[in-house]
Amino acid sequence: MCGIVGYVGDRPCRDLLIAGLEKLEYRGYDSAGVSVISDGEIDSVRAVGNLANLRAAVEEHSSNGSVAVAAPPATIGVAHTRWATHGRVTEENAHPHGDCTDKIHIVLNGIVENHAELRKELADDGHVFTSETDAEIVSHLIERHYEGDLVDAVRRSFGELRGHYAFVAMHLDHADLLVAARKECPLIVGIGDGENFVGSAIPAFLAETRRVKMVENGEIVTITPEGVEISTPEGEVLEREEDEVTWDEDAAEKGGYPTFMKKEIHEQPDAVAETITDRLPGLDSVDLSELELGDELLRTVDRIVIVACGTSYHAGMIGRYAIEKWARVPVEMDVASEFRYRDPVIRDTDLVIGITQSGETADTLAAMRLAREAGAKVLAITNIMGSQATRDADAVLFTRAGLEIGVAATKTFVSQVAAMYLLGLRLGELRGTLAPDELRELIAGLKSIPSKIEETIATVDARCKAIARSHHERRFFLYIGRHIGLPVALEGALKLKEISYIPTDAYAAGEMKHGPIALLDESTPIVAVATDSPVLEKMLSNVEEARARGADVIAIATEGSDNVAEVADQTLFVPRTDWMLQPILAVLPLQLLAYYIAWDNGLNVDQPRNLAKTVTVE
Ligand code: F6R
Repeated sequence: MCGIVGYVGDRPCRDLLIAGLEKLEYRGYDSAGVSVISDGEIDSVRAVGNLANLRAAVEEHSSNGSVAVAAPPATIGVAHTRWATHGRVTEENAHPHGDCTDKIHIVLNGIVENHAELRKELADDGHVFTSETDAEIVSHLIERHYEGDLVDAVRRSFGELRGHYAFVAMHLDHADLLVAARKECPLIVGIGDGENFVGSAIPAFLAETRRVKMVENGEIVTITPEGVEISTPEGEVLEREEDEVTWDEDAAEKGGYPTFMKKEIHEQPDAVAETITDRLPGLDSVDLSELELGDELLRTVDRIVIVACGTSYHAGMIGRYAIEKWARVPVEMDVASEFRYRDPVIRDTDLVIGITQSGETADTLAAMRLAREAGAKVLAITNIMGSQATRDADAVLFTRAGLEIGVAATKTFVSQVAAMYLLGLRLGELRGTLAPDELRELIAGLKSIPSKIEETIATVDARCKAIARSHHERRFFLYIGRHIGLPVALEGALKLKEISYIPTDAYAAGEMKHGPIALLDESTPIVAVATDSPVLEKMLSNVEEARARGADVIAIATEGSDNVAEVADQTLFVPRTDWMLQPILAVLPLQLLAYYIAWDNGLNVDQPRNLAKTVTVE
């Protein structure tokens, strides 16, 4: 998740902008840049690595005799921290990006979904690109529409862009104007006295002002030293009240949430949208052309093996169900720490998928290396560009969840599940095992997941809090699920034990009668993942068995499933989707339940005892 800061006013702005970026560092980034209008030209400096590198590059740039990026009277500028999604981590790919005349500079967060077609169109018109990014399209698009009015050019460009983004543009000929636009990705204006700010998050300008105006989805903002005007893309001016931010800096870093974990739970719609948006350009096909495996391999591979640890393993399990159902390819899987030591049978015709959000987990890396040495093709699914997994694999599919600070994986998990769905659908498409109509429906369903995640969190949050309140002193929780509900149950149980230290167990519900049912009595809450699936009836019998032994049943169900609510003590509903997509929603109440139970017990949910975010040693 990249960071944006913009300033227009009467103060020299280099330091203000870089100080703003420093406040966004917690979001993670791999390169950064700043552009200001100084002495009749746009002066831009970018650097790979941290902000110390950017500061050093600015210093060097100034001492080289060029117009100093910092030199007064530069009083307007934009700055950016980049977390690479499209294009490698290089100086050329860092923002800001200019147009062909170098009069327009933009910074952008998020993803422009139709970047490939726009790039081609613009290149055919003679535009010359200097980066591999989707973001650069926007500066050239504004250039194409610019006829002396930057606001109009941004408005017209906005109408042509599809995706999930927020950007800020400035033009050399308008040295007191920033124009910003928001589609899904956050954008906030900071109001000063004779100066104004814009940022992707409040910490970007909190040291300077606490007065803010929230920019809503689909709005255009013009920012001058004197004022801020928010309008619709059609030009209708909108009234917007000013708000006063009361958070301290620590809370601001957490987006106003009490913990990083809570913030990251709320970032899940965004994380999934970033992961799927440009890979689902329409309804007929999944675009995974970035995968350096080739369609032929995906069409012909006759066995897939998934290796991963912890939460990533659970994402892999959901992937297994999806791939087997949609593409009819046999999938085996193992926790990486077992796989690597059990002398596994690996064939050079296998595709081995290593799932690791950090890209640095020692066991997963070792399992991937073993597979590669045996001649198999290895695909890494990871969240971190440049991580070891990306170097050890033949191909990489990136999740785009942004930096996750809370030790318990939340937004990286749903992004991994989304990536596995993309892969399953692409395999089904290429192998002809999904009929075109079925593929269309599933793609439409997957595209609706980010808004359904948002809806789910909003509707279940208070209920999860209340249920946690009534159960936080329990000594043991048992989770059950069947089919695609099973990995959700496993993940829910892992979340609760790792952040609350309450023992949990998770079972395939059909296994209950083979032993675990002995654990049940009135003191045991049982969490049943009972969303729609062809085995729901069987799941309900398992729930009845538990109820009969006095256990309190907390069920996760698909909205409208009264039959589940009838047999459960408490039911948390998630929106209806294709049943295979339900796990990505069903896990949300379980994350919140674990969160509130740990919170009620006064625990540090961001940093549970004995756990590290990345497990790099054996
Ligand atoms: C649990 C959690 C861990 C990780 C596991 C693998 O919330 O975060 O179980 O999923 O340590 O980590 P990665 O995905 O980085 O390989």
